[in-house]
Amino acid sequence: MHLLLKLVMVVVVMVSSMAMMVCTCQARTDTRHPVILVPGSGGNQLEAKLSRDYYKTSSLACRFLTPAHRWFRLWFDLKVLVQPFTECFAERMTLHYDPVKDDYRNAQGVETRVPYFGSTEGLQYLNPNLILKDITAYMAPLVESLERHGYVEGQDLFGAPYDFRYGLAGEGRPSAVGTKYLQQLKGLIENASKTNGGKPVIILSHSLGGLFVLQLLNRNPVSWRQKFVKHFIALSAPWGGTVQEMLTFASGYSLGVPLVNPLLVRAEQRSSESNLWLLPSPKLFGHKLPLVITPNRTYTASNMPQFLDDIGFSEGVFPYKNRILPLTESLVSPGLPVTCVVGTGIKTAETLFYANNKDGFDKQPEIVYGDGDGTVNLLSLLRLESEWPKEKSLKVIRVPNVSHTDVLKDPIALSKIMDEITMINLNVLSSVL
Ligand SMILES: *[C@@H]1O[C@H](CO)[C@@H](O)[C@H](O)[C@H]1NC(C)=O
Ligand SMILES: *[C@@H]1O[C@H](CO)[C@@H](O)[C@H](O)[C@H]1NC(C)=O
Ligand SMILES: *[C@@H]1O[C@H](CO)[C@@H](O)[C@H](O)[C@H]1NC(C)=O
Repeated sequence: MHLLLKLVMVVVVMVSSMAMMVCTCQARTDTRHPVILVPGSGGNQLEAKLSRDYYKTSSLACRFLTPAHRWFRLWFDLKVLVQPFTECFAERMTLHYDPVKDDYRNAQGVETRVPYFGSTEGLQYLNPNLILKDITAYMAPLVESLERHGYVEGQDLFGAPYDFRYGLAGEGRPSAVGTKYLQQLKGLIENASKTNGGKPVIILSHSLGGLFVLQLLNRNPVSWRQKFVKHFIALSAPWGGTVQEMLTFASGYSLGVPLVNPLLVRAEQRSSESNLWLLPSPKLFGHKLPLVITPNRTYTASNMPQFLDDIGFSEGVFPYKNRILPLTESLVSPGLPVTCVVGTGIKTAETLFYANNKDGFDKQPEIVYGDGDGTVNLLSLLRLESEWPKEKSLKVIRVPNVSHTDVLKDPIALSKIMDEITMINLNVLSSVL
């Protein structure tokens, strides 16, 4: 009796491990859907070239230190931490809104380009120099995880870096740079699918990248989506913006680097179109929740134009109202399986207090914190859940105690992401949901 039971158990174990082997083999060969990585803001290298004739600078130092007529790394360069390089960097990164064209453009005489489109090279490390490589690692651990699961760069693993300073605009308004990127990304998705036996792709985005991907999907016909996209996994996506972005606009944000004076980068940060896109959405944060409190008044997400005006950035009001708001009003489900992976339980700016009239917005505020991933408020991370309550193909995976960018390297977060990809490749996700 006992022996028989043991035998049966041995057979069961053997059969199940064989089944697992079969599954692994399949996942390694036939059923791997190509993966396309879409980084977040600041999440890939950016290069610039200055024109000797047209580049204008207010500072002699920036002119003197100008490597004219050759491409150099604009982002990320460690020199940004040292003056006067901080100002030179800020000047060259600054975008300008052209009211005649109703579109954004680079600073005069500054040409920029995004290296390595199609590959993961430009988004694994923000600076590939030996000394800086490790401290500027971005998607490298995620890429390593994918490679351990059999993915091969250039074969079924691709990267779609972009000029993250630019955003997109609502219907009928031009946005040359962002729209061109969506076209490139579309081409990359089609190519990746074609070179992988027609298998639709898995798009894996981080942060702002998720907002671009949702626009790409919804700007293409349902038949295109179904043919080319198997699944969209959005990591740390700020679906309804972040309160921290109001801090960035009001007082500048040092990116957590104590050496950088936030006021030196504030004008550049305000000029970025994608930053406007990340302001808290009135649709989500509403007209009651106080986000910024000053002795003069209280601002909710619905008073954003007034807020932009009061902080001294009235140039931002028109593009915000006319280009950005229509993008953030309601998010439409693309009708494809979507998985959000979000970090929770990290203190995240929820209300900003400016105590003193005298200092205006130049002094950093006192911050009241709430739940989120340290950058994005929980409300925003979970927006799709509240906005698409009936969407059966939406899944949200919460990873406690993991921050906005740690989701790209934390072992537990990575294993959850890889499990999701394995299940998509085995086509068992629908039964798990
Ligand atoms: C897609 O493949 C075609 C043909 O090989 C190539 O010309 C095109 O540049 C590729 N597009 C992208 C975005 O990779
Ligand atoms: C409040 O209003 C006064 C007068 O208009 C202005 O000088 C001050 O900068 C404002 N302070 C804040 C924090 O908005
Ligand atoms: C969260 O992470 C921090 C640092 O990684 C650690 O010190 C802390 O104990 C963790 N908290 C929980 C509740 O796991």
